Amino acid sequence: MTRDDCLESDRRDPLAAQREKFVVPDGVLYLDGNSLGALPRATAAAVARVVEEEWGTQLIRAWNDAGWMDLPRRVGAKIARVIGALPQEVICADSTSVNLFKVLATALRLQAERPQVSMRDRRVILSEKSNFPTDLYIAQGLADWLGSRYEVRLVEFNEIAAAIDDSVAVVMLTHVNYRTGAKHSMTPITYRAQQAGALVIWDLAHSAGAVPVDLNAARADFAVGCGYKYLNGGPGAPAFVYVADRHLRALAEQRFVHPLSGWMGHRAPFEFSAQFEPARGIDRFGVGTPSILALAALECGVDTVLAAGMEAIRAKSVQLTELFLRLVEDRCADTGMKIVTPRDASYRGSQVSLAHEHAWPVMQALIARGVIGDFREGSGGGLLRFGFAPLYNRFVDVWDAVEAMRDVFATRAWDTPAFLARKRVT
Ligand SMILES: Cc1ncc(COP(=O)(O)O)c(C=O)c1O
Repeated sequence: MTRDDCLESDRRDPLAAQREKFVVPDGVLYLDGNSLGALPRATAAAVARVVEEEWGTQLIRAWNDAGWMDLPRRVGAKIARVIGALPQEVICADSTSVNLFKVLATALRLQAERPQVSMRDRRVILSEKSNFPTDLYIAQGLADWLGSRYEVRLVEFNEIAAAIDDSVAVVMLTHVNYRTGAKHSMTPITYRAQQAGALVIWDLAHSAGAVPVDLNAARADFAVGCGYKYLNGGPGAPAFVYVADRHLRALAEQRFVHPLSGWMGHRAPFEFSAQFEPARGIDRFGVGTPSILALAALECGVDTVLAAGMEAIRAKSVQLTELFLRLVEDRCADTGMKIVTPRDASYRGSQVSLAHEHAWPVMQALIARGVIGDFREGSGGGLLRFGFAPLYNRFVDVWDAVEAMRDVFATRAWDTPAFLARKRVT
């Protein structure tokens, strides 16, 4: 394997032309699309149009005339195509954390309404120790708020299936782990949980736009995910929430399914009724006024994924991560880095993580050379994380990033006080 081989792979890459749709600064090898996706070229003009033509000239009339009221559902329906859902099952709203709160509260409510379920017995919210902290915090916060009725039980990644029993009300998992990049098998876990009478919430933060997801085929109950990672929606982009159609129908007659009963979840917000009456479908998972500028940006990002198609994205993602792993094994063998991401592509997402005792300064040295990944805390020095976004990452980027890493170790470029100070965002 040589650099020329990588250039040849780029020439043969069916997604090569997609890179032109993004702003990738000169001298930057951007391997952090798992944290913040790159800026699509179309976004600035789209947002400017909403600002100048819609907000600037139509003012309040734009809620009707420019379709602003439909935007959370319109972008939600596009994301539905990326995650194997029906258009009426997805809405864009709030952050992933807030959406987790809504679906967890809904799932607990659904369980409580089931006549055969004893609230005292089915009291476990099951998740994984290394789930993303906000998922765990939301579960802990809600369980605490509800008194001693629920217990948050955390097990290791590989212990989930064995931990599902009839005490479990909700299984709440992130499909692709933010630290290791390891991917859960969505369909068998969902099946196992439902067989045991539990409901399942999937966090797709590291999946949507990165790995093919078919929520309907997996019979998933609930899902949430971020707009700013592989969906390229921009910093703090609105998140999305999915609720299976069968649950939306079952919930249609219930007034309060989650406590965030804001006016955008009302059947008719502009009736200004003093009484909350929920919308019948996924609209009830809206809460407050949607962020129109942010949704306009998110729509451009989702369009980049739809234009390429998830099959092609996954095929290239597997090739990129495989190449990176092979090059790290072959060319960085003496650096002390340990691969923590599954070696079998069917068990990983689009990210590779490497453990090293000096992970933080090594990543700072790489960033100083324009190779942008990120760092996550952990025992033994922490993790270097590299996200591979097939829409704008090239095979030659992978080669050059590994060579930069080799050099950082060979020259001990990381070993300088300038790279030791921790920053606020890592
Ligand atoms: C798995 C997962 N869930 C949720 C979040 C963040 O949620 P929020 O959009 O509320 O900040 C992240 C952020 O990286 C994440 O990795």
